[in-house]
Amino acid sequence: MPDLVTKLAYQTLQQGKSLMGLAHKELSTRLMGLLDPANAPRTVPVPLEVLESLRASMEQLLALDWDEAEQGLYPASLLFDAPWLDWAARYPLVWLDMPAIWNRRSQRKVRDLPSDVRAEDYPGYYLQNFHHQTDGYLSDHSAALYDLQVEILFNGSADPMRRRMLQPLVRGLRAFADRSSRQLRVLDVATGTGRTLRQIRGALPEAQLVGLDLSASYLRQANRWLSQQPHELPQLVQANAEQMPFAGGSMQAVTCVFLLHELPREARATVLQECFRVLEPGGVLVLADSVQIADSPQFMPVMENFRRVFHEPYYRDYIADDIEGHMRAAGFECVAGETHFMTRVWSGRKVAL
Ligand SMILES: C[S@@+](CC[C@H](N)C(=O)[O-])C[C@H]1O[C@@H](n2cnc3c(N)ncnc32)[C@H](O)[C@@H]1O
Repeated sequence: MPDLVTKLAYQTLQQGKSLMGLAHKELSTRLMGLLDPANAPRTVPVPLEVLESLRASMEQLLALDWDEAEQGLYPASLLFDAPWLDWAARYPLVWLDMPAIWNRRSQRKVRDLPSDVRAEDYPGYYLQNFHHQTDGYLSDHSAALYDLQVEILFNGSADPMRRRMLQPLVRGLRAFADRSSRQLRVLDVATGTGRTLRQIRGALPEAQLVGLDLSASYLRQANRWLSQQPHELPQLVQANAEQMPFAGGSMQAVTCVFLLHELPREARATVLQECFRVLEPGGVLVLADSVQIADSPQFMPVMENFRRVFHEPYYRDYIADDIEGHMRAAGFECVAGETHFMTRVWSGRKVAL
């Protein structure tokens, strides 16, 4: 059971991460404004009351993160789980990469990918520099920096947001009465570098985990992070989430974190249909992604700036899309949604006939 000292350590750590993220972003924005004022992103002002509301909802997120660890949903050690030395060593690379990112942004180059990428292996929408990041999702260099960049973007709250899908996931799996006599399979779609799988493994150490992603480099990075722990290694599969190489009904749960906003609307709907197909009747789907206009209208300026600063070609469509509608159309029932800081979490069930 986590104690008061651990709680204090967690709060201090999160405050430190938040300050570092804010300082990094402030410094890089000012530097870009100085070096290339004509091409600095034109952001909209964020009113003081919105900043205050953001701060309050981040505090609520961290309080809930602590509470759920204390209740035993996942071990408190997960709250401190990060490759600190590794990130410290990689941090200078984030700065060294910055001029290339600025250059790409100012020249509106959004398809600046490694020359050895075989375009026919990927859907067209994927072949872009999401967030203006070097090589898009298609190099080991990009995979090595991704977690740190996300951590900075969310002021250290990326994992607390990912963990919000654990409660509906664990609750959803209770439907399988025979769960003690067989190993349940949980698929994480668009698993990236494996941060979500690490959270799931903390909450469900007995489950058989599978991660799917289109990027071989990101899966290699996931393999590296996940093999640092003395657990069975998840099965990592390179494939398109629109056509998953799994038999229908072969998973008891599917999760998908921070993918939907990077897909065109039709692909978003197709991925949800695929999630439905691979689930066993009774199985649960849990999604986590950016908040949307309907649930968080007060954060509209923040959503607008995200789109203006980062290359996010489908974000404007995503924040107005009806995800619950897509889930129901795919066949899901008991669809529910909840908001935590900048993340919306949805769950739905493939009802047993
Ligand atoms: C924003 S990252 C999120 C990664 C991870 N879920 C996380 O929480 O950090 C989006 C991921 O989706 C993957 N991706 C994008 N489109 C995909 C598709 N059609 N099929 C499979 N993976 C896809 C990318 O390669 C990338 O790893």
